[in-house]
Amino acid sequence: MKADEDKWRAVDEFLNDSLSLHDSALESALVASAAAGLPSIQVSPAQGRFLQILARVHGSRRILEIGTLGGYSTIWLARALPSNGRLITLELNEHYAKVAASNVARANLANLVDFRIAPALESLAKLAGENLDPFDFIFIDADKANTPSYFEWALKLSRTGSLIVVDNVIRNGALTDIESTDAAVQGMRRFIKMAGAEPRISATALQTVGSKGYDGFAVALVTG
Ligand code: DHB
Ligand code: MG
Repeated sequence: MKADEDKWRAVDEFLNDSLSLHDSALESALVASAAAGLPSIQVSPAQGRFLQILARVHGSRRILEIGTLGGYSTIWLARALPSNGRLITLELNEHYAKVAASNVARANLANLVDFRIAPALESLAKLAGENLDPFDFIFIDADKANTPSYFEWALKLSRTGSLIVVDNVIRNGALTDIESTDAAVQGMRRFIKMAGAEPRISATALQTVGSKGYDGFAVALVTG
C-alpha cells in the first residue's frame, strides 16, 4: 500500500541521516548510475552497511559478487576488505560495468576490485578453472531466474565457513505464489527449496521493507 511504502521510505531516510549511511563516494555512485541510465535497483544504504558488517565480522578477505550493476554494493563490500583483500565482481552488461568501474575508482577502491564482464555463468565456470582460493563471502544479486545456478556455483567456489548472501528472495511476497509465471519468482522459489534441501549449509531468509519496497535476502553459512 502507498501509505506503507511512504512510511518505509521515510524510516529509511531517517536511518540514512541518523546513522550516516551515506558518504560522498556512495552518493556520487548513485548519481552517476542514474545519469548513465542504470535501473535504480541497487541495495539501500542500510542494506549496504549490513552487507559490509557481515563481511567484516566474518573477516572476509576474498569476496565474489555476482551482478555488479553500478558498483554500489561493490563499494560497500570492498570497504570491508583488508588492504590485501580482493573482490571479484561479475557483470554481463558492458555499460553497467564501465559505470561501476568509474564509481569504484572514485571511491578509491579500484586496487581491490576485479571486474569480469561476461555472462555470469561463463565467468563462474572460468573462475572454477583458475584454481583460486575459495571465496570467503559471496553476494548473489544478478538476474533472478539464474539464482539456483549461481548458488550451485557459489557452493563450488566456497569452503566450510564461507558465507553466501542472496538478494531479492521475497519478491514483494510473490515467493509463495506457486503459479507465478514470473521467472524471477520461480527462480527464487527453486533457490529457497534448494537451500532447504542442501545438507552442506545452514540457511535462513529475512523479509525486509524500506526504500526498496518489500523484499528480503537469504544468508547461507557453508557448514560442510
Ligand atoms: C531487481 C533486481 C535487484 O537486484 C533488486 O535489488 C531489485 C529488483 C529486479 O530485477 O527487479
Ligand atoms: Mg538486488
